[in-house]
Amino acid sequence: MRRKVTKAIFPVAGLGTRFLPATKSVPKEIMTLVDRPLVQYAIDEARAAGIKEFIFVTSRGKSALEDYFDHSPVLEQELRKKGKDDLLEILKDTNMDSGAIAYIRQHKALGLGHAVWCARRLIGNEPFAVMLPDDVIAAETPCLQQMVEAYAETGGNMVAAMEVPPERASAYGVLDVQEDMGSIVQVKGMVEKPKANEAPSNLAVIGRYILSPSVLTNLNKMKSGAGGEIQLTDAIAADIGTDSTVYGYRFRGQRFDCGSKAGFLQATVAFALARDDLRDDLSRYLRDVVQQDKAAE
Ligand code: UTP
Repeated sequence: MRRKVTKAIFPVAGLGTRFLPATKSVPKEIMTLVDRPLVQYAIDEARAAGIKEFIFVTSRGKSALEDYFDHSPVLEQELRKKGKDDLLEILKDTNMDSGAIAYIRQHKALGLGHAVWCARRLIGNEPFAVMLPDDVIAAETPCLQQMVEAYAETGGNMVAAMEVPPERASAYGVLDVQEDMGSIVQVKGMVEKPKANEAPSNLAVIGRYILSPSVLTNLNKMKSGAGGEIQLTDAIAADIGTDSTVYGYRFRGQRFDCGSKAGFLQATVAFALARDDLRDDLSRYLRDVVQQDKAAE
C-alpha cells in the first residue's frame, strides 16, 4: 500500500520583487484575487487533496500570513452579535485546526530547493506535496487532487506539467520526456530555465509537486544551480532512474502565474467573471473598455 500524502510544504520566503513596492510590507501570498488571498486558494486546493499538515517556509516580513490563519475572536464576536452568519462562515475557511499548521524560517532566500529543505525535519520519511501559492489553478477537480489520484498509481515523484510556447520555455523547469502516456509522462531529464532553443520539450513544470523523501536527501548534497539558487528541479532530477523516478502530470485546468503582474490581472478577471455577484457588472465594463479602446485606434 502506498503511503498517503498528508503533508504539504508552502514555500513563501521569496522576496516578491516583481510586486514592489506592494511587497515591501504585504506578503505576495496575501494579495487578493477578488476577496481571497492567494494563499487561501492554495490551502483550499490542499485540503481537497487530503492534506492535513500545512508547513509554511517563511521569512522576515511575512507575519501578515501567520495572522491570516489565526482565529480572530474580536471580529468573530462582533459578527456574531450582528447576526452576520454568512461572513462567519467565510471566515471558517481561514481557520486551521490546532497543530495543523507550522512555520519554518528560511533565513536567506537561497532558492526554492533550499526553502523546501528547510522543512525537512517536519517531513520525515514520507511523501509530501509542495505547492507554490503564486501558481493559481482554476480547475473542476483541484490540481493537487488530480495529482494525488495519479500518484496513487505511479508512486515516485510527480510534477505538474503544462505545455508552453517554445519561446517561453526558458522561464521554467522543462521536462525531457522518456515516455508519453497521455496525462502522465515518464521523465528522463529536467532542465531548469534552459537557454533559448535548448529546451528538451515544451512541457514546463509549474508549482505543484508530490515528492519522495529521497528528494530531501538529494537536497542535503545540493550546490547552487541556475541563477545561483539551490534548485528544487535539480534535486528532483537526481531521482530519475532510481526506485522513486519522476513523472510529469498534465493537469486539467487553467494555470495563472500570479507571481507576475499580467498573470495576476488575468486571474483577477477570470475569478471575478466566475462569480455570480460580479459577472454581469464586470463583463459589461470589460465590453465597454474594449469598445472604447477599439474606437480610439
Ligand atoms: P519566485 O521565483 O516567484 O520568487 O519564487 P519570488 O521571490 O517569490 O518573487 P520575485 O521573482 O522576486 O518577484 C517561487 C516560489 O518560491 C518561493 C517563493 O516564495 C515563491 O513561492 N521561494 C523562492 C522561497 O520560498 N525561497 C527562496 O529562496 C526562493
